[in-house]
Amino acid sequence: MSDQVQNTTISGDGVDPRLVPKRTVYTGAQIPAIGLGTFGSDRFSGETIAEAVKDAIRLGYRHIDCAAVYGNEHLIGQALREVMAEGVPRSELWITSKLWNDKHDERDVIPAFEKSLRDLQLDYLDLYLIHWPFPNYHAPGVDITSRDPNAKPYIHENYMKTWRQLEKLVDMGLVRHIGTSNMTIPKLKLLLRDARIRPACNEMELHPHFQQPELFQFVVDNGIVPIGFSPIGAPNRPERDRTPGDTVDIEDPVIVSIAERLGVHPAIICIKWAVQRGQIPIPFSVKREQYLANLRATVSEPLTQEDMDAIAKIDRNCRLVKGHVFLWKENQSWEDLWDINGEITPP
Ligand SMILES: NC(=O)c1ccc[n+]([C@@H]2O[C@H](COP(=O)([O-])OP(=O)(O)OC[C@H]3O[C@@H](n4cnc5c(N)ncnc54)[C@H](OP(=O)(O)O)[C@@H]3O)[C@@H](O)[C@H]2O)c1
Repeated sequence: MSDQVQNTTISGDGVDPRLVPKRTVYTGAQIPAIGLGTFGSDRFSGETIAEAVKDAIRLGYRHIDCAAVYGNEHLIGQALREVMAEGVPRSELWITSKLWNDKHDERDVIPAFEKSLRDLQLDYLDLYLIHWPFPNYHAPGVDITSRDPNAKPYIHENYMKTWRQLEKLVDMGLVRHIGTSNMTIPKLKLLLRDARIRPACNEMELHPHFQQPELFQFVVDNGIVPIGFSPIGAPNRPERDRTPGDTVDIEDPVIVSIAERLGVHPAIICIKWAVQRGQIPIPFSVKREQYLANLRATVSEPLTQEDMDAIAKIDRNCRLVKGHVFLWKENQSWEDLWDINGEITPP
């Protein structure tokens, strides 16, 4: 098969990373069009995830989506060191990490970054994101009714202070690109107006039932590469992360019928749709057959234009990661976090 590998660092059934599509960020750097997610919630241990990272890189993944709050960067760092010792060049890898919400204070940003860098056993990162635009602490694993008594809304002046520290990390040569996550159009407009170093990527929830067409187009039009989280619709997330009315992408009749025609799992259709639409999906899995199938989805038979058109029509505007814990006032609704009226929700 054409995607079987000659590259000696790739396992026999893996995919040659040179064949995996790439996106180009504004610096000219290339980012693999699929990454491996590493948020195991409380379903999988850090050790299990680090093993998956190692094996996935051996199979041809070159892009890993990490974050300090996932609590496993020290284990992923060992995995990265091992695969690099086996011959995978650092320059082939794209490693992302994210600044957690309790480290937005300008004094905390660089130390928090340095901890991630140390844990990952690297001397630079390819991408560092501000994980959420809200500087609020909440413990991992809390349910949607939990609130931070000191919760603050988005205050652009404060966000820019955090951003300036990210810019400093670029100046220091410690990170190649900086970016955003969980942003909205009005917030991004302000950032684009005020940034000295532009965001290279925006990580956002994207799956067939949550296509965010306006934000997606805004990001692309502004030369920012969209990275799509929960690309399969996080089908097995914990109960506490579910709300009534959530829909299930991989049970959608359109997705299921395309999957049946191609003889693949519906998850694979979500991945193919994401890559062909132009976002970078970062599916999570610790199961070899799954993460290998997800990688193979990027190099095998593409969806037809008819398939793409049909999937464009099944958007349900169904946000799964609503962000309730970031609400800063009594009686607010989670929609307030997402500026759905086109303006930043006032404090
Ligand atoms: N920036 C942010 O705020 C943010 C927020 C959320 C997530 N993320 C990132 O995005 C990554 C992915 O999102 P996610 O974990 O929420 O959801 P996801 O990738 O949509 O769903 C992951 C689940 O899908 C199933 N799956 C994966 N590949 C499959 C396949 N080929 N066939 C069948 N089932 C498959 C697995 O379920 P089973 O394990 O049960 O088999 C897996 O646990 C995270 O790990 C994290 O890195 C970022």
